[in-house]
Amino acid sequence: MLTTLLLSLFAYLAPTVMLHSQVALLTVTPSAALTEPGSNQAVDGPSLFLGALGSCSRPNNEAGVSCTSPSLSPTYNTSVLPSNAPSLDLSAPPTAAPVFIAIALAFSIIFFFSFTAISFRHVIPGKFGEFWDRPMTQRGSAWIGIFGFLVGLASFLIVRMWFGKAVDDFNQGIASQGSGGPALVASTSNAFIMVWVAYAFFGIPVIVSLAKLHVMATK
Ligand SMILES: *[C@@H]1O[C@H](CO)[C@@H](O)[C@H](O)[C@H]1NC(C)=O
Repeated sequence: MLTTLLLSLFAYLAPTVMLHSQVALLTVTPSAALTEPGSNQAVDGPSLFLGALGSCSRPNNEAGVSCTSPSLSPTYNTSVLPSNAPSLDLSAPPTAAPVFIAIALAFSIIFFFSFTAISFRHVIPGKFGEFWDRPMTQRGSAWIGIFGFLVGLASFLIVRMWFGKAVDDFNQGIASQGSGGPALVASTSNAFIMVWVAYAFFGIPVIVSLAKLHVMATK
């Protein structure tokens, strides 16, 4: 159970806090899929990686990646894309989204520590062990867990819809230029998969805490 919780926290932290080309919310990569439908030749060109805190880019497949400095209200640097790419479609979600994600993350971390302490309360000596044994403490821990879970999940769903629309608009803008358009394609990226996996795992201890609440209430 604790391993599950630790894994979920990592899977959650990585896409939220890290700014890296390996973990992105949206990527723009070189591809002829939209400009020459049917051809599947490999193309070289600029890549752009958008995260919650900023963007990273590289001018071609071999070049090194450079990133913007992380910020809660990031401005994506799309200068690596050619001028006929619809870069304006790639904007960051409103600042409220990362703020809510940060709040959810803080609650999840508090839940992580309290859940651990409650699990080991019988080996914690003295007053401190007593504290974690109280129904009040365990109720508080469960509510913090539920709050973090719901706020975080809702925030990521909104961010997912935001970037889903950005991908559609960007790709339509490319496709509408026909074979003269830039050989690029946008897609939502692996960070979302990590987040959904994190929530699936995180749901387990939250449900366990909820079940304990129910037991305590009916005793
Ligand atoms: C944007 O990225 C390019 C390199 O891709 C860099 O030369 C430029 O300074 C960056 N602009 C800002 C505002 O960070």
